[in-house]
Amino acid sequence: MAIADLAPAEETLGLVSAAGSEGFAARCDVSSGESVAQFARWVEEHFGRCDVLVANAGIYPVMSFDDTTWEGWRRVMSVNLDSLFHLTKAFLPGMREAGWGRIIATASNGFYSGLPDLTPYVASKGGVIGFVRSLAIEVGVAGVTVNAVAPSLVRTRGTTEGPHESLGMFEKVRERQAIRRTQLPADVAGLVSFLASDEAGFITGQTIPVDGGSVRV
Ligand SMILES: NC(=O)c1ccc[n+]([C@@H]2O[C@H](COP(=O)([O-])OP(=O)(O)OC[C@H]3O[C@@H](n4cnc5c(N)ncnc54)[C@H](O)[C@@H]3O)[C@@H](O)[C@H]2O)c1
Repeated sequence: MAIADLAPAEETLGLVSAAGSEGFAARCDVSSGESVAQFARWVEEHFGRCDVLVANAGIYPVMSFDDTTWEGWRRVMSVNLDSLFHLTKAFLPGMREAGWGRIIATASNGFYSGLPDLTPYVASKGGVIGFVRSLAIEVGVAGVTVNAVAPSLVRTRGTTEGPHESLGMFEKVRERQAIRRTQLPADVAGLVSFLASDEAGFITGQTIPVDGGSVRV
């Protein structure tokens, strides 16, 4: 597994090797086409090609629309949506050549309900959903599936360090869910792992909520 992150990803790499897999982690800014192209060269040197692309990096700054500057808007769009363009441009050709591939992006169930003070974020995730829906039609013949997962509020580093706890968001979100516990990263990983498998080969163009039954589409 090759891990692209702006921050050091040694912890994730440790989990990968504990699970019996090998790989490397590299600093990569997924909002930059050049940085992603460099990462793709390292992947090629190390593994030959990429079979499964999981586009997961994302940011979710909480701010009212009035406080959102053009730069702030562009930053969210570029990390959450432009990244999908850069990563797919870099890795889709190898998948086409192999006649098999999986592209899995992380959307958000907030797209369905809307989220106050997160307008750029929700707009970017709407872009992700449109991206997978359309690209899937173009690449199905090449054996490549393109899907997204749509979690609820997950307890991750980002939401633990953010204002979510102090704003009572975990509690409010739990109350909306059919399954009333806080979502954990493993809940999302299970769906991602399934979508990457051969068993999911007939699922494409979909955004699948994995959110304890919060939204029902
Ligand atoms: N946590 C939630 O409640 C939740 C809910 C729905 C969707 N999501 C989505 O799940 C994904 C992961 O969220 P998370 O909560 O784990 O976030 P997080 O902040 O805990 O982790 C995000 C990771 O992305 C990396 N990153 C940020 N910008 C980057 C860039 N430009 N290039 C490369 N790496 C970059 C960070 O270094 C970090 O390791 C995001 O796309 C987010 O929108 C999260």
